[in-house]
Amino acid sequence: MRTRPLGQSGIDASVIALGTWAIGGWMWGGSDEMEAIRAIQSALERGINLIDTAPIYGFGHSEIVVGRALKGRRDMAVIATKCGMVCNTRAGELKMRSTASGPSEHGHIEVYIYNNPESIRREVEDSLKRLQTDRIDLYQTHWQEGVTQIEDTMGELVRLRDEGKIRAIGVCNASTTQLERYRSVGRLDSDQEKYSMLDRKLEAEQLPWCERNGVAVLAYSPLALGLLTGTAGPEREYAEGDMRRTHRRFSVENRTRIQILLSRFRPIADAHGCSLGQLVIAWTLAQPGVTHGLVGARNEQQVSENARAADIRLTNHDMDQIATGLAGFELV
Ligand SMILES: NC(=O)c1ccc[n+]([C@@H]2O[C@H](COP(=O)([O-])OP(=O)(O)OC[C@H]3O[C@@H](n4cnc5c(N)ncnc54)[C@H](OP(=O)(O)O)[C@@H]3O)[C@@H](O)[C@H]2O)c1
Repeated sequence: MRTRPLGQSGIDASVIALGTWAIGGWMWGGSDEMEAIRAIQSALERGINLIDTAPIYGFGHSEIVVGRALKGRRDMAVIATKCGMVCNTRAGELKMRSTASGPSEHGHIEVYIYNNPESIRREVEDSLKRLQTDRIDLYQTHWQEGVTQIEDTMGELVRLRDEGKIRAIGVCNASTTQLERYRSVGRLDSDQEKYSMLDRKLEAEQLPWCERNGVAVLAYSPLALGLLTGTAGPEREYAEGDMRRTHRRFSVENRTRIQILLSRFRPIADAHGCSLGQLVIAWTLAQPGVTHGLVGARNEQQVSENARAADIRLTNHDMDQIATGLAGFELV
């Protein structure tokens, strides 16, 4: 497995990271804990050391499962978790109402984005307990809000790093202006953003900015929640509680369009002896500025397939052909 630096933190992390949102179960129709533990351990065996989680994934469940899976293996992993999505306050900005299985207008759980320093300090202690560790390798604000000053949030993150509770600082879902503000206070190591063949907003400004400033970019949802794996055909049924059941992108029409799009890439995948999902991951990793592909997986088989994508080197000709295939493609 290839590794790349996590910004200027001195930490090297596998170019393919394992995302554990689905492992939390919430919004993904539940998850199987034993299968999840095997998935995380097999990621380590395949050289995937960067494991991304968050307190909000299953309201703590994902972090707990990651902690259990890493027992006795802690030093093999680079644990990335997050802060700032909380249910214990009405301060900050309301992000969503949810039930235990997923967001709902009538849900009784109110999830706020709150990057307040004292709240973050409490959150880090809770995450350390759930993860059964004494340090978090990469700590990231999950979303941005307008109530807390970014400079105050970053000041606290820098203190936590100085105290050794966290080793590197990252953000998610931030604008370039917000990244500048974090960076004005201290060393910012990573930026985690949605990026895939279907989500390319980052290319205009943020990817070049990160590259210029030595900030690692963790591209999340590179498979577009599974749409780009080739296994999300129009006939597939999604489980109760799986957000993809009602997600606009997963309409039968869109899934049909995606299958047609992916069929254009089949000859390139065949030439590399890989699956469509592996080709999509390799394409993501080949984008200038993207340092790590944060790929979600629920089981060992998916982890092992995704890990092998790190070995695929696409040629300029492959990239041109993919660009031609993507030209003018739109979802409805
Ligand atoms: N910071 C943020 O705000 C944010 C937001 C979203 C995600 N993330 C992070 O990014 C990670 C990855 O994103 P994601 O989980 O949203 O989506 P993703 O990586 O685009 O898709 C993951 C899903 O695709 C399917 N899949 C994965 N590998 C496969 C394979 N080899 N064959 C067939 N299907 C496969 C699985 O779903 P099925 O098996 O159910 O089809 C899996 O749950 C998350 O887990 C999380 O850590 C962060």
